[in-house]
Order: sequence, then structure tokens, then C-alpha cells
Amino acid sequence: MTGLLQGKVALITGAARGQGESAARIFHAEGASVVLADVLDDLGEAVAKELGDRAIYRHLDVRDEAGWAAVVAAAEDAFGPVTVLHNNAAVLRAGTVVGSTRQDFLDLMDVNVWGCVVGMQQVLPSMRRAGGGSIINVSSTGGLIGQPGAVTYSASKAAVRGLTKAAAIDLAPEVRVNSLHPGWVDTPMVREKNKQTDEEYLASLLPVVPMARAAHPDELARAALFLASDLSSYVTGSELVVDGGRTAGTPVRR
Ligand SMILES: NC(=O)c1ccc[n+]([C@@H]2O[C@H](COP(=O)([O-])OP(=O)(O)OC[C@H]3O[C@@H](n4cnc5c(N)ncnc54)[C@H](O)[C@@H]3O)[C@@H](O)[C@H]2O)c1
Repeated sequence: MTGLLQGKVALITGAARGQGESAARIFHAEGASVVLADVLDDLGEAVAKELGDRAIYRHLDVRDEAGWAAVVAAAEDAFGPVTVLHNNAAVLRAGTVVGSTRQDFLDLMDVNVWGCVVGMQQVLPSMRRAGGGSIINVSSTGGLIGQPGAVTYSASKAAVRGLTKAAAIDLAPEVRVNSLHPGWVDTPMVREKNKQTDEEYLASLLPVVPMARAAHPDELARAALFLASDLSSYVTGSELVVDGGRTAGTPVRR
């Protein structure tokens, strides 16, 4: 590792497992102090403990404004002002047009969309004290193209794409805001939804992913690392798609 995040203070939501955990590990290895936040306290505590110095875990439901204020205060007390916000936490709920309910819609918008907005609101004063920062809002390929059987989830992720662009304009030049668009990533979110064996799951991906595999969570964390670091110093309001070619088109297998 090369110290790309030396001196940065990164707050990562949904950091107890999956892509958020990978980001916490990789950001930490690159020199950042990391604040892991999640609702899965045992898992999150264990990751922070394993990382050791420069890592703390705090309980945070991303819908909770007062909870955000407490986590930002804890980050400042431990490490100083926050310079990276990785808005990664989200929930997935299946539902076709016919099968979706108003409550599904409100629940997903609350966590996946409002969670990003309130996070940006609450971290902004800290970032301004630091002289600037980088915010990464995790969307999905489902925010760019249709995701079958996931109407409300796709709506929430398209909203994350849109709010990111508006925020990038509002917060420039001191704070950069970008969206990250994973394709299929092998994490508990997908495994819990699909209820398939690994072989069945892979077989279902083959026809639509040119690279014919799911991503490893570290492959998303490394993309987030680029957006978090000064390597992306002129990148704001952009969409970083990490999907093995999924949105490039449908492959023809010969
Ligand atoms: N896995 C995929 O294929 C995939 C594809 C596209 C986008 N994404 C997105 O990537 C991000 C990370 O997902 P993942 O794949 O690591 O899934 P995951 O389910 O393994 O991790 C999500 C984390 O968010 C946490 N979380 C959920 N609700 C929360 C809340 N209200 N407050 C705080 N934390 C909460 C969960 O406890 C969990 O630790 C999400 O935004 C997801 O929508 C995932």
C-alpha cells in the first residue's frame, strides 16, 4: 500500500460487512483514520478491533440525524475533522411494479436516499473545518439501467445518482461529491436475496456480465479509494461504474 489516504479521516457507513468493511480495511491500510458505522454492532466492533489503531466503531442508523451528529463528534474527538464520507449503507428489497408497496418505497427511500442526504448535511461542517473533503454516495447499476424485480430499489439508487450531481454543484469547490455504481458484488446483500447456491448464482450472471463473474468487494473498495483520495482531485459530480461491463451491453456467448 502507498499511503494514498495518509492524514485523512474517513467515516464509512454500512462498514460492518460487505463493501463497507472492505473499504474500511483498504482505507485504513492506505493510512486513513477510519470510523466504521453500522447497525450490526458485533460485526462492526470486531472489524474495528482487528484494525486496531486509527479505527473506531460507532452504532449508527443512517436515518437518525442525532445519531449522525454523535458519530461525527466521536470522529472529531478521536481523529479530528472528517475529510472522507463513504455513504455506503443501504438495504435491498425485491418487488416488481405489481409487488411493491408504498411502505417498501418509503423504507428504501428513507435508508438509501435520505441516509445519504442527512449524512452529507451532518458531515459538512466538519469537512469545512478541515478545509475540504470527498463524499462518495453508493448508487448501483440499478440507478443507471433497470434492475428486474427491484422497482423501489432502482428508484432509490437513481435518486442517489441525481442527488449526487446536485450536491456536487452546491458544495464545489471545497467538497467533491461522486457516485459509485457497483454491478453484482459478492456480499451478504446479494446472497441473502438470491437464496441460490454459488454455482446457480454464477450461472445466472454469465449471460449478462461481459466479465462473467461477480465483483469481489475489494474491487469496489479500490474504486472508492480513488474517489476518496487526492488522485481524483478534479473529479466531482461524476459516476464511477464498476460492473464488469454490465452496462456496456449484453455479451453474445459463442
Ligand atoms: N452487492 C451488490 O451486488 C450491490 C450492487 C449494487 C449496489 N450495491 C450497493 O453497495 C452498497 C454496499 O452493499 P453490500 O453489497 O456491501 O451489502 P451488505 O448488505 O453486505 O452491506 C450493507 C451494510 O449496510 C448496513 N445497513 C443497512 N441499513 C442500515 C442503516 N439503516 N443504517 C446503517 N447501516 C445500515 C447493513 O447492516 C450492512 O452492514 C449498498 O449501497 C448497496 O445498495 C450493492
